[in-house]
Amino acid sequence: MNPFLAWTGGKRWLVKVAPELLDIPFHGRYIEPFLGGGSFFYSIKPAYSILGDSNRDLIITYNAIKNYHKEVVRLLKFHHNNHSKSYYYLVRDQIFKDDLEIAAQFIYLNRTCFNSIYRVNLKGKFNVPIGTKNKVIQDNDKWDEWSKALQSSKLVWGDFEQLVDESTDGDLLFLDPPYTVRHNNNGFIKYNEILFSWADQERLAKAANRARKRGVKIIITNANHESIRELYCNDFSVKEISRYSSIAANSVNRNRYEELIITCNI
Ligand SMILES: C[S@@+](CC[C@H](N)C(=O)[O-])C[C@H]1O[C@@H](n2cnc3c(N)ncnc32)[C@H](O)[C@@H]1O
Repeated sequence: MNPFLAWTGGKRWLVKVAPELLDIPFHGRYIEPFLGGGSFFYSIKPAYSILGDSNRDLIITYNAIKNYHKEVVRLLKFHHNNHSKSYYYLVRDQIFKDDLEIAAQFIYLNRTCFNSIYRVNLKGKFNVPIGTKNKVIQDNDKWDEWSKALQSSKLVWGDFEQLVDESTDGDLLFLDPPYTVRHNNNGFIKYNEILFSWADQERLAKAANRARKRGVKIIITNANHESIRELYCNDFSVKEISRYSSIAANSVNRNRYEELIITCNI
């Protein structure tokens, strides 16, 4: 099932190039502390899950879809019918207090802003300009299913470390952090460094290592960079992957493999 949000760094493609990741057996909970668009969650559809993100409005939106999706869709239809350039900026600059309105605003902006980017200014206000897409309500929307899949999920707003530390033997932990590397000249990764520093990347590796020792099954995705390999080289299996091909242990052309799949206890 495709997710209801389009998300920068989203892993919609991952299940296509590495479908075996969906077949990993586990008898505990599915835990995803960097939820974003939740594409892996919606593909795996686990029986029990804990989903988290540091983006407060994102978690409010998932909670609203879980508990009141019909009301959210009603508000979304209103946005759909009124969508125009001036209406977009009016909605973008409004500060809502009600969770249903926050959720409808979040999904409306995600579906109509430039390239579905999520970016905020220094005051934490969403500041992405309008994009070219104008279909807020889409033919392939599956609101009932998106809501149903969340019924046995606990949604947590906050930093990843608390959820990683909560994982125990038998759980499956899926970690898809913003990509940052120790030194780089990549503009996209540089922007991420404001959101997720190298120190956060090291903190994540330490937390993942603690979870590994508890017997948790772990999948991590990250940039294909020497500094990331060094973080995980000892106790994890590290494979290169390209969104254009399947997992390759020995790449002929290293540049083609732009991401890493890091696993353990699997
Ligand atoms: C690469 S995205 C995840 C994409 C997601 N897997 C998907 O398929 O759409 C990374 C997410 O991590 C969140 N994030 C950033 N820093 C975080 C932190 N310290 N703790 C928890 N979540 C964080 C961001 O808000 C963003 O949603």
